[in-house]
Amino acid sequence: MISQTLEMARAYEETEGNKITEEQRPLFHLSPRVGWMNDPNGFSRYQGLYHLFYQYYPYNKKWGPMHWGHAVSKDLLQWEYLPAALAPDTPADSEGCFSGSAVELDDGRHLLMYTGVVADGVCDEDGMLQYYQTQCIAVGDGINYEKYEGNPVLNRNDTPDGSNGFDFRDPKVWRDQNGGFHCVVVDCTADKYGRILYYTSNNGFEWKFVSILAENDGSLGRAWECPDVFEIDGKTVILVSPMEMTGTDEFLCGNSTLCMIGTVDRETGNFKVESRQTIDCGIDFYATQTLLNEDGRRIMAAWMQNWDTIVFNGEDLKWEGQIILPRELSVKDGRLYQKPIRELEQLRKGRLEYKQINVSDRMTLNGVRGRTTELIVEIAPETEDSLEMFEIRLAEKGELYTSLIYRPHEQTLEFDRSHSGARKNVTHVRKCRIDGPEEKLKLDIILDRYSCEVFINDGRQVMSNVIYTDQEAVGISFNARGYAVMDLVRYGLSAE
Ligand code: FRU
Repeated sequence: MISQTLEMARAYEETEGNKITEEQRPLFHLSPRVGWMNDPNGFSRYQGLYHLFYQYYPYNKKWGPMHWGHAVSKDLLQWEYLPAALAPDTPADSEGCFSGSAVELDDGRHLLMYTGVVADGVCDEDGMLQYYQTQCIAVGDGINYEKYEGNPVLNRNDTPDGSNGFDFRDPKVWRDQNGGFHCVVVDCTADKYGRILYYTSNNGFEWKFVSILAENDGSLGRAWECPDVFEIDGKTVILVSPMEMTGTDEFLCGNSTLCMIGTVDRETGNFKVESRQTIDCGIDFYATQTLLNEDGRRIMAAWMQNWDTIVFNGEDLKWEGQIILPRELSVKDGRLYQKPIRELEQLRKGRLEYKQINVSDRMTLNGVRGRTTELIVEIAPETEDSLEMFEIRLAEKGELYTSLIYRPHEQTLEFDRSHSGARKNVTHVRKCRIDGPEEKLKLDIILDRYSCEVFINDGRQVMSNVIYTDQEAVGISFNARGYAVMDLVRYGLSAE
């Protein structure tokens, strides 16, 4: 049975979404069918396709009562919209269907586990209505999902001592080789410090608390959101998005992202951290979610936006929010590496190569332009100490441009979109301390109409950013203070 709330959302997105032309969207990044998108949800393989759901409010380009939008893809590049999958339409989720994930059941059905938000009828000290959060299930066939009559399957009584009783969300579920079900969910202590709780189940419906897998000792923000945990390259990796982080050399302040690499103590079920790092040092990144592909790849999606820095993309576009180009993850020497999914190679057209170009003044290169373009660039000082600063300008036209600035002496890479035409004074500049060889810098820059993702030194670091510059701004230029030598490969990216 499809509720009236869901039916209304489906009818709305069908009419309004269809008015958006292909050119008004990114070419290969997922954007909402219409209206607002935040976190990726239910990122999974099901019946031979990638399914990607997302936090969704179709009726406005702002966050509202959360639905789940839905899209499928064969290659993680070309997405086909399916009707919205969930709407806030039952007593267990009347205020919203928050983030969650998906797995396949033994009988072939697709199980979604998500957070149901309910109003408590109780107000806090400031007179604000309190909401509390529970974990719910919906089961379906890849298009239509029915909410489980036993919802919620986990509520605040299922959290361990010390929980504040309100924050309890974002279940990430996975299955083991023997068919067992596992999930991690975040909650908060009374002081509002995040914890990652671990539960198991035999059937996906009845869950049992096992342990507190990890908790915030106070040094990693306050509450945590969107947990994920997996084994890779002999290590256990936890990804989570902390809120209210205080900035350090490694971590961005505000809504940040955190990767912890370590091992799980089999006796206590606790995670022992060996190293920590930020997942992405760009401006627009939050709320990661991964899946394990049949070919063994661990693939990560994330929201290519951040609560603290939303630029809003103007009146012409009827959607707001994008998902990153999915990334293949690996761990080497205690560090997380991220590479653009290899499927991107299928879009590469028109290879142009320039070798040993001397850059000492502003210059352009024949054929190097475009907004659906990949640039693979290696930059080195011409002689030791000869380079003070190297700049690549992208999405350039007249006074409009976005810069990437490399300063070898500081070992920093700066992204600056203050001249990109943005009309809101949020953060537009972000600097990343390069953690890699000092003699040269390698960048893989991926432009897709409304974004710029920069993979530094073979994925050792990444900066993700949105840019909403007019699409006619296709110029790319290079500049140096001092003397640099550059190798460059440029591909046009096109689905044809
Ligand atoms: C993260 C988040 C989640 C929550 C969802 C609500 O961006 O705040 O914790 O489930 O967004 O839309």
